[in-house]
Amino acid sequence: MNAYPQVLFKNRRPGETVLLSEYEKAGGYQGLRTALKMSPEEVSTQVKNSGLRGRGGAGFPTGIKWSFFPVDQPGEKYLVCNGDEMEPGTYKDRQLLLADPHQLVEGMAIAAYALQTPVGYVFLRYAYEDCSLRVERAIEEAIDAGYLGKNILGSGFDVELHVHRSAGRYILGEETSLLNGLEGRRPVPRSKPPFPARSGLFGRPTNVNNVETLATVPHILTNGPVWFHTLALSPDGVGTKLFGLSGHLNRTECFELPLGITLREVVEDFGGGVRGGHKFKACLPGGASTPYLTAEHLDVMMDFDPLEVVNSRLGTAGVTVFDEHTCMVAVTRNLNHFFARESCGWCTPCRDGLATVSWLLDRIEFGQATMDDLAMLKDQVRNIKGRSFCALAEGAMGPVEALLRLFEDEIKDHIKRGGCPFAGK
Ligand SMILES: Cc1cc2nc3c(=O)[nH]c(=O)nc-3n(C[C@H](O)[C@H](O)[C@H](O)COP(=O)(O)O)c2cc1C
Ligand code: SF4
Repeated sequence: MNAYPQVLFKNRRPGETVLLSEYEKAGGYQGLRTALKMSPEEVSTQVKNSGLRGRGGAGFPTGIKWSFFPVDQPGEKYLVCNGDEMEPGTYKDRQLLLADPHQLVEGMAIAAYALQTPVGYVFLRYAYEDCSLRVERAIEEAIDAGYLGKNILGSGFDVELHVHRSAGRYILGEETSLLNGLEGRRPVPRSKPPFPARSGLFGRPTNVNNVETLATVPHILTNGPVWFHTLALSPDGVGTKLFGLSGHLNRTECFELPLGITLREVVEDFGGGVRGGHKFKACLPGGASTPYLTAEHLDVMMDFDPLEVVNSRLGTAGVTVFDEHTCMVAVTRNLNHFFARESCGWCTPCRDGLATVSWLLDRIEFGQATMDDLAMLKDQVRNIKGRSFCALAEGAMGPVEALLRLFEDEIKDHIKRGGCPFAGK
């Protein structure tokens, strides 16, 4: 059914995990062999030329991030894979690790060589025990086959990988909180600068990348950067992307699709259309912290730059769809309660601001609000945006700001009627 080129999901079979022999048969670990014949700098250049952008949400170009890394600095240096994945509506890293975990192991071995970081950690949240078991087994298989450990494939380079299962909170996905958590400290974000590339885990240079980002790297080394450019549909886009579909769709699954595919194709061809024959009202295009898109955006290309043009973001490409009977105040209220609960409490705009936004959205949804509450909501968004210590609060304001921009009439309708116009529908 999915006729688009499959890269990360090419070996995927429902309910099964690819083991080493099958992974090798499908060309696995060729990327590592290719990388080890190059200099570390050449490997980073390949990744830079591929145009790969981070799959953890922010979309920062991976090769450029690697080029800032102090590869030649003596002493300990670390590679960390971010598998916290606690953003509501995002489950693509889990699907990848359950299906074909050697891609991550190979990607980390290549990244470790490119960055000269002989020690790597795979950071997973507590609920991901099933992923943890599969990654641990893949690591053991890779050690036995000489892809990890001392002098990998006779290259003279050593690399060891460890799996760390955290207690699991949303804030642990923020890379500097994650490093605090990995050190056994309270997971609050660190001040940046210094960035982790200068002072990260245990104060040493550390590179943090998302699961999907690292798992994509072997394919770039095997097939070359030019090939990666050919995969996308958008003019300036590169590569495929895992899209996790959820919400009011007939099919809520994770698909590998080319970047630049339209939202319409995602919803209709892959999601099977809105369930119950209802109309599409809105969606979160890339997880809970991305601003809504509406029916007028159905022909927008799902890629980093085109989504910014329409005031949204690709984020993690976790697409959650809402049908015409959905109350967008209720959705936003629900999301904001999550963010307020997950605030680490370090800075006031987030700790107090998100709680106030939740209180205001409660008042609107349950018919206690006046127009003054709407004005106060706008004021709160202005006060939180750009004023928080980390991106959690900024992200939380994405849907709220979009609610005010796209659905202000719906808010006013709640206020005028003294309750939710969708209640009981
Ligand atoms: C609150 C918050 C949660 C985050 N959660 C995740 C996450 O679960 N996984 C992830 O890879 N990045 C997450 N990020 C982004 C990371 O801080 C970081 O940018 C990312 O891991 C870098 O990897 P990439 O360049 O490969 O995308 C989160 C950021 C914030 C502010
Ligand atoms: S924005 Fe929120 S999560 Fe981030 S440091 Fe401030 S209180 Fe903590």
